[in-house]
Formats: sequence, structure tokens, C-alpha cells
Amino acid sequence: MTMTRLPSSVSTTKLAKVGRLLIVGAAGFIGQFVAEASLDAGRSTYVLVRPGHGYPSSKTNTIKSLQDKGAIILHGLIDEKESIEKILKENEIDIVISAVGGGNILDQLCLIEAIKSVGTVKRFLPSEFGHDVDRAEPVEPGLSMYKAKRRVRRLVEESDIPYTYICCNSIASWPYHDNTHPSEVLPPLDRFQIYGDGSVKAFFIAGTDIGKFTLKTVDDIRTLNKCVHFRPTSNLYNINELASLWEKKIGKTLPRVTVTESDLLAAAAENCIPQSIVASFTHDIFIKGCQINFTMDSPQDVEVSTLYPDETFRTLDECFNDFLLKVDPKSISNNETPTAKSPVVERMTITATCA
Ligand SMILES: NC(=O)c1ccc[n+]([C@@H]2O[C@H](COP(=O)([O-])OP(=O)(O)OC[C@H]3O[C@@H](n4cnc5c(N)ncnc54)[C@H](OP(=O)(O)O)[C@@H]3O)[C@@H](O)[C@H]2O)c1
Repeated sequence: MTMTRLPSSVSTTKLAKVGRLLIVGAAGFIGQFVAEASLDAGRSTYVLVRPGHGYPSSKTNTIKSLQDKGAIILHGLIDEKESIEKILKENEIDIVISAVGGGNILDQLCLIEAIKSVGTVKRFLPSEFGHDVDRAEPVEPGLSMYKAKRRVRRLVEESDIPYTYICCNSIASWPYHDNTHPSEVLPPLDRFQIYGDGSVKAFFIAGTDIGKFTLKTVDDIRTLNKCVHFRPTSNLYNINELASLWEKKIGKTLPRVTVTESDLLAAAAENCIPQSIVASFTHDIFIKGCQINFTMDSPQDVEVSTLYPDETFRTLDECFNDFLLKVDPKSISNNETPTAKSPVVERMTITATCA
């Protein structure tokens, strides 16, 4: 294990505000929002980076930027029990947040064993950041990911590790059914694909708010051994409303094409990973209504805007303004088909493998 020291510019008193927090997967899509929020909150932030990895420059830049803001970079793997135990002990870690990706959910079993044997971690947040996996029942291949997340939950509970499960629903962006990280992609500029009749609502949360509210829960007694649901009514939209909001921004009406329930099921059945996983979740959200078809009647449930009523969520309007900045303003003012400013983010960022 190697450790990178704090830059001298970073005040250790600022970082020592509360318990030491370890973030696993901080260079990833969700983990980055969590790590930024941890640093913004002035927490003592440790970031676990996989060793000897040939990182693309974007990830190297993310890690460097976190380090510049005061994160302490540690190198290690969560699926190596002794090494992760050593990291937890030597750095006196109080809180662990995992944001490992869908393909590595079961790597957390080893991390949980390490947390149990160290016995000093006051809160563990496993990699959830989506739906309540004990309630939702998507079709395959999404279901297999939920089964893995359920297995992680059961081991956490059996091990008596204090936990919080973050169910933050959808990221605030256009919900492409074939892209795992849609907030990195502009909403459509040519035509909308509307799932079913486009009337089923979902909660759309800005990535920065996923980070901010996740951090609020980590030492809040009200979230101890709870499922924290992100359900701000201001961010509840159906896909037709989402399309209208974007049309207002770009000043143009775009054609709407229906993607039927059978289309989504067929895309899921192709079993191309990761797109088919996203297709199965898209079906669960926009056809079955998995984010809104239950009431929070279990004592295990708490809702984030009720917990923190004085805190505001970024609205979808604000998030779509950010996307608008990436559209070529000339194409809008000339009343042409809107075009993105270059360089454009690729639609699919992960290499697919099909069964
Ligand atoms: N609500 C939503 O809209 C939404 C969207 C996407 C994801 N999610 C959920 O958010 C969670 C995170 O997914 P993501 O897409 O953000 O993941 P991601 O971008 O693939 O990033 C995962 C991170 O975990 C690290 N990692 C993986 N295995 C590891 C191990 N054994 N030891 C140490 N580090 C390890 C990776 O390291 P490397 O950098 O070395 O690869 C990477 O930094 C998942 O539970 C996913 O289901 C939710």
C-alpha cells in the first residue's frame, strides 16, 4: 500500500472536522460526486484508488483534482481483505462509502468482512445509488445486479455493521436507455425516444445533490440502519414533461418516437452488457413505475427532503441550463437543427459485451 501525503496548502484542521471518511470508487461516475461533496463539507477524505491501473487521462485528472482539493490518496483493492483491513486500521477510518460499479458489487463482500473484523467503522454505505433493491424487481439482466446488491445488504445486516442505503433514483439528465452515465450526454437534438406513453414519473437528481445529501446522512442518527430515499417533489417528471422542458431551452420542437414496452424488453433480452442492464432499468422506471409505485411505510424508510427541509435540490431546469451551454448558440439563433459544441461526449462510454 502506498499513500500520497496532503499538499501543504491544505489545512489539516479544516479536514479534521469529523470522522475520517474513505471513499471507494471516487474516480468513478457516482464516486466523484461523493468525493467532491465530502471535500466541500470539509471532511477528512481518503480515496481508495486501484493500484497499477493504466488509467485514461480523464481518471488521472479526476484523482489529481481530488488530491489538489485535499483528498488523501490510498492505493488498494477492496477485494483483498488483509490489505483493506490494514488501510482501515492505519488510517483510523470511521466511515466507508463504496461507489464501485455494477460489475464489482460482490467485491464488497471482502470489504464487509474487513470492516467487521476491524470493528471501528461507525457507518458503511455500500454501493447502491439507485432504487430500493429489496423492492424493485427489474427483468434480467438488471435483476442479477439487484441480486448482488441484495446479497451485500444481507451480509452487512448479518455482520451488525451500522449502515445507510442511498436510494437516489435517477440522475438529472435525459434517461437514454442504452447509456450507463447519461448525465455526461446532452439531451436529444434530433428526436426524443419516449418510453411507452411517456406518462410514468420518476425522480431526477443532480449528481452534485447525490453527493451533497449522501454526505449529510453519514453521521446522522436518523439515517442509521435506514434506506434513504431521494424523492423531492420538485424533481418529479415524466418523460414527456422532460422533453417539453428541453424543447423550451433549445427553442425548438423535436419529433417524438415511441419506444414500446416490447422494444425495451427486447433490448434487455439481447443481454449486451451494460446496455441491456440499462434497458431493464428503463423498463422498470418508465413502464412499471418502480420509483413511484410504493409508499414509504416501512420503519426502515426515510426521505431526504423531509430529513433536511431547509436544503434545496438543484432543479431540472437548472440542470438543463447546464446542458444548454454545450449546444452551439449559433444553431439555435439561426433556427437550424441544434448542434452540440465540439468536442461531444460519446453516447456509449463503456465497451459492451453480449452473451
Ligand atoms: N442512479 C443512477 O442514475 C446511477 C447511474 C450510474 C450508476 N449508479 C450506481 O452507482 C454505483 C457506482 O456506479 P458507477 O457507474 O459510478 O461506477 P463506475 O463509474 O464504474 O466507477 C466504479 C469505481 O469503483 C472502482 N472499483 C471497482 N472495483 C474496485 C475494487 N475491487 N477495489 C477498489 N476500487 C474498485 C473503480 O476503479 P477503477 O477506476 O480502477 O476502474 C471505479 O473508480 C453503482 O452501484 C451503480 O449501480 C447509479
